[in-house]
Amino acid sequence: MLVLLTAYGLLQLAASSVLPQYRKWPAMSTYKKDIDNHTSVADNIIDYILAGPAKGEVYRRLARMTDKFGPRLCGTETLEDAINYMVDEFTQDGLENVRKEAVTVPHWVRGNEKAQLISPRSKDIALLGLGKSIATPKEGITAEALVVRSFDELHARAGEAKGKIVVYNQVWESYGQSVQYRSAGAREAAKVGAVAALVRSAASLSIYSPHTGTLSYQNGIPKIPGACITVEDAELLWRMSQRGENITIYLYMEAETLPDVVSYNVIGEIKGNLFPDEVVLVSGHLDSWDVGQGAMDDGGGAFISWEALSVIHHLGLRPKRTLQVVLWTCEELGLYGGIEYFEKHQKEAQNMNIVMESDMGTFTPQGLQFTGSDEAMKIIQYLASTLLKRLNATDVDDGADLSDVNQWPSIGVPGGSIKVENSEYFYFHHTNGDTMTVQNPDVMDLCTAVWAVTAYALADMEYMLPANRTVTVN
Ligand SMILES: *[C@@H]1O[C@H](CO)[C@@H](O)[C@H](O)[C@H]1NC(C)=O
Ligand SMILES: *[C@@H]1O[C@H](CO)[C@@H](O)[C@H](O)[C@H]1NC(C)=O
Ligand SMILES: *[C@@H]1O[C@H](CO)[C@@H](O)[C@H](O)[C@H]1NC(C)=O
Ligand SMILES: *[C@@H]1O[C@H](CO)[C@@H](O)[C@H](O)[C@H]1NC(C)=O
Ligand SMILES: [Zn+2]
Repeated sequence: MLVLLTAYGLLQLAASSVLPQYRKWPAMSTYKKDIDNHTSVADNIIDYILAGPAKGEVYRRLARMTDKFGPRLCGTETLEDAINYMVDEFTQDGLENVRKEAVTVPHWVRGNEKAQLISPRSKDIALLGLGKSIATPKEGITAEALVVRSFDELHARAGEAKGKIVVYNQVWESYGQSVQYRSAGAREAAKVGAVAALVRSAASLSIYSPHTGTLSYQNGIPKIPGACITVEDAELLWRMSQRGENITIYLYMEAETLPDVVSYNVIGEIKGNLFPDEVVLVSGHLDSWDVGQGAMDDGGGAFISWEALSVIHHLGLRPKRTLQVVLWTCEELGLYGGIEYFEKHQKEAQNMNIVMESDMGTFTPQGLQFTGSDEAMKIIQYLASTLLKRLNATDVDDGADLSDVNQWPSIGVPGGSIKVENSEYFYFHHTNGDTMTVQNPDVMDLCTAVWAVTAYALADMEYMLPANRTVTVN
């Protein structure tokens, strides 16, 4: 071990000014033996969570936090109170180097809002204004609707859009496809002279709830208000328009953007006992939308990340390299916490073994998702097939879901996320339905176990994952 350590250290020293750094990595068999060697500690971690002192704890902790604070929108005092609460929790739990790192974030306020169908009949339209949207004039906007299924249809019918409220009734194909209408719907409508945009919620199933999100405006294009409406109302308006009925809608929104404020990422660690500068990062975001409780998005991801370190600490384990938990601030308004952390820490890329985030819900875990070299992929596959077998979480998909840590692979740092049975995620996402009721204590325990075993093994193995991590030379 000592010989290995020395060779490793020298290699690191010699290569410290190379950009990017090409390091010689050991053979696959070395990694495999090392993973095999972690079978019994993985079992101890799993037992401690599924049948030991930590059973149900992650759910109880998350319920205490989300019941106490409710939703935690970026820019609010409530989010800052929740951040300080987490600092206290990390500290009392015995994590090391507990600290906050400042991040300048936007402060958007929803205010009152409402929408009504005026003709062909009178009806309230449930809505949620989109983050960063402007308000309507004080008297609201009353206008005819132009209902379209796509941007292509909007462009084809551009001549009809002037002075109208554009309603997008895009079909749900995937989140990525639907979300384009949420982010770009208002500015595309403004380009053809519309006065507001109402967007069908990005939802895979709806029980008449609007799903919020952010929009983005474009310089040089007029800003018009944007909001999400339910799938049901979008389809109603579409059917009416297909019958040639003239639709008139009243829209009122008070949304405003106040000056930026300072918020914080919360960090806690278990310092490595052999390579303390090398880091395995696990994370989720603490902020949420201003509806529901932010229990699923992303309370669950944030809390399995904390719980993973908590369990390792309470088992008296200390891996070779440092385990770091980060609770991001202001993901929802545009990944502000993750971007600031990357700016500040990218020069440490050489020591970043892997960045991990859970932000797709804590549903039944199926394995991991991974972004990295082919060699590293094989190691992760072996790790899952060996150490996560008991958890039935042996799948490894190519392509991690890395919201707040998505920039790290661009400088060679591998990324990981937890693969879950997330078919229900977009029922609740960004709605008033995102509450503790979505969470199941046993399933959250399984997620914690996947997360803790993966993070611990990667932090405790002799070698980092093979990758060409970029060294930033200042
Ligand atoms: C595996 O574990 C044994 C006993 O703890 C230890 O002596 C050995 O060095 C370990 N091997 C590796 C590759 O970590
Ligand atoms: C809708 O409005 C247009 C123009 O205002 C009018 O020509 C048309 O007859 C109306 N259609 C219906 C179904 O009322
Ligand atoms: C894994 O799957 C087996 C077979 O379906 C089942 O008996 C076992 O309970 C599952 N384990 C977990 C942790 O879900
Ligand atoms: C690192 O880059 C070198 C040179 O392009 C390549 O041969 C090697 O496979 C890369 N290693 C990893 C782990 O990606
Ligand atoms: Zn999220």
